[in-house]
Amino acid sequence: METVQVVIVGAGVVGFSTAVCVAEALPFCSVTLVADKFSPDTTSDGAAGILFAAEYPDIPLERQKHWFKDSFDHLLAIAHSQHSPEAGVMLSSGWQIFKEVPANKKPFWSEFVIGFRNMTDSELKRFPDHRFGQAFTTIKCECSSYLPWLEKRFREAGGRVEQRKVHSLQELSTNFDLIVNCSGLGSKTLVGDAEVYPVRGQVLKVEAPWLQHFIRDGDGKTYIYPGIHSVTVGGTRQDGDWRLQVDQGDSKSILERCSRLEPSLSRAKVLGEWVGLRPSRRNPRVERETVQLQGRRLPVVHNYGHGGWGVTLAWGTAVDALGLVKQCLQEMPPRAKL
Ligand SMILES: Cc1cc2nc3c(=O)[nH]c(=O)nc-3n(C[C@H](O)[C@H](O)[C@H](O)COP(=O)(O)OP(=O)(O)OC[C@H]3O[C@@H](n4cnc5c(N)ncnc54)[C@H](O)[C@@H]3O)c2cc1C
Ligand SMILES: *[C@@H]1O[C@H](CO)[C@@H](O)[C@H](O)[C@H]1NC(C)=O
Ligand SMILES: *[C@@H]1O[C@H](CO)[C@@H](O)[C@H](O)[C@H]1NC(C)=O
Repeated sequence: METVQVVIVGAGVVGFSTAVCVAEALPFCSVTLVADKFSPDTTSDGAAGILFAAEYPDIPLERQKHWFKDSFDHLLAIAHSQHSPEAGVMLSSGWQIFKEVPANKKPFWSEFVIGFRNMTDSELKRFPDHRFGQAFTTIKCECSSYLPWLEKRFREAGGRVEQRKVHSLQELSTNFDLIVNCSGLGSKTLVGDAEVYPVRGQVLKVEAPWLQHFIRDGDGKTYIYPGIHSVTVGGTRQDGDWRLQVDQGDSKSILERCSRLEPSLSRAKVLGEWVGLRPSRRNPRVERETVQLQGRRLPVVHNYGHGGWGVTLAWGTAVDALGLVKQCLQEMPPRAKL
């Protein structure tokens, strides 16, 4: 019997999470991950990696809850294990603050994070421009450590890794029986999904070890996220902006906005600046289809378009994608089936 050859395109947090799920669950498949960029050069590498999410408009809330919960539980187990420092996964407590009481007073994920509650008036006193807030403990997953850790886990499960750019699905169809598409923003050109667009984000990494709590403005534009080696301060959300260069005006605005929330940041040393393009889409695409390539019908499982929440949802959508891969395998013609 032939071994089923599976290829995963993408080495960001979505690609490696999916690769680990597939390789560990389906040892009878041969799994190869192909990407042109690897850590530390993916979008995932610079993300703050805080677990948090916005609601996507057209995906049933139950499915989004599953994605969040599966991710949270997976990362919480890592945070509580000896792997925590190597994997770059830590617990993080703090506050999300709002200038006006939001229409949705309780986000859908509030039941999955730890100790979610409204902030008290005395906690809010230090934020005079804000009149409502939520306090909770969530997880911070730092992909510059997490990606190499996942890669190691993938290789231990028998996975193989290749560095190259994929120019068309065609070129994968000769060597593989099933394609898993985790190419993020690359999907735009790879198969021409016009729905995918960049949302530019700029952040600074600063040295401020005295800061131990996150602060996030509910508008999503201003945040302070303490991490293992530095504090990430941000940010920007610029729709359709492809510029990867650091913008000094953005850096200045970020530091001003963040210092208003946390005055001690004026004493912090700037360690670096970074720009990433969130692979955005109205809804992330986690679904399967069959494509016809040179007379061969090839199953493709898509998993891309996570926008600003790819670190949060990576494991949950990977579990979902694994389910789709299993469905594809069941429907394969007997020749290719084990
Ligand atoms: C400033 C900023 C802060 C963020 N903060 C958070 C946060 O706190 N929490 C959170 O959950 N998310 C956050 N995000 C969002 C998060 O970074 C993304 O959602 C996530 O990184 C997407 O992961 P991905 O694996 O889909 O894409 P990527 O990390 O972009 O990986 C895409 C992969 O596909 C490969 N690829 C693409 N096209 C091809 C091709 N044709 N051939 C070969 N390989 C290809 C690339 O080389 C790469 O390996 C943030 C983003 C930014 C910019
Ligand atoms: C939190 O605050 C909101 C808005 O004022 C209110 O509707 C809600 O009942 C509060 N929740 C709790 C648990 O007090
Ligand atoms: C990934 O999906 C996008 C959008 O449909 C498509 O353009 C691209 O060709 C796909 N890539 C692979 C490897 O399936």
